[in-house]
Amino acid sequence: MTRICRLLDLSANAQLEATASIARIFFAASGTQSFASPDAKIAFQERWLGRYLTFDPGLVFVALGDEGMVVGYLAGSFDDPASTARFSDVGFFKDFAPLTRRFPGHLHVNLDASLRNGGVGSRLVDAFCEAARAAGLPGVHVVTGKGVRNVGFYERLGFIERGSTLSHGKEIVFLGRSLRE
Ligand SMILES: CC(C)(COP(=O)(O)OP(=O)(O)OC[C@H]1O[C@@H](n2cnc3c(N)ncnc32)[C@H](O)[C@@H]1OP(=O)(O)O)[C@@H](O)C(=O)NCCC(=O)NCCS
Repeated sequence: MTRICRLLDLSANAQLEATASIARIFFAASGTQSFASPDAKIAFQERWLGRYLTFDPGLVFVALGDEGMVVGYLAGSFDDPASTARFSDVGFFKDFAPLTRRFPGHLHVNLDASLRNGGVGSRLVDAFCEAARAAGLPGVHVVTGKGVRNVGFYERLGFIERGSTLSHGKEIVFLGRSLRE
């Protein structure tokens, strides 16, 4: 049975191992598989994962498999990314600023391929939303590609398309979930 907990609930050693597993899952699940240089790879990891581990370690949730290995993770933030300096390098947050005020929390979730389609991702998102609700956030969001498969996953969890924009020539959608309903 897969168990969900916060990264910070693990022992210090287990957190180190978990962080390595999270990075492995991050790269395996990423749509970007080749990098111009080692520095470009590090910058990519920092942009979509590293800074969440650094600034919001309490909002990192992990899914632990039978052997206690991390088989999935969710990393997120409660800070409105359109008005938070550390996210200023992500251009699309500016486009979505009126929406991020209503749905300030955001998340990134990825699972090992072998664990997908078993409800584990839903449990990770529910854990994050429960923490966000307890912290008094009005809503949370994800940004993903228009028409990609994970849109259905989020919609079943109560996320609704609230807007779209172009990012690097591709249409992306802002999916917001109210926590006040
Ligand atoms: C998206 C993801 C976190 C969902 O977790 P999960 O435990 O597989 O989800 P559930 O079992 O609760 O729901 C199944 C739904 O997940 C989504 N999903 C499953 N495999 C997927 C994949 N390889 N890529 C994208 N979405 C996927 C689909 O919407 C699926 O529903 P469908 O079969 O009707 O298309 C997980 O599948 C995953 O890590 N996918 C690859 C990476 C990804 O897309 N991450 C989200 C980035 S915004």
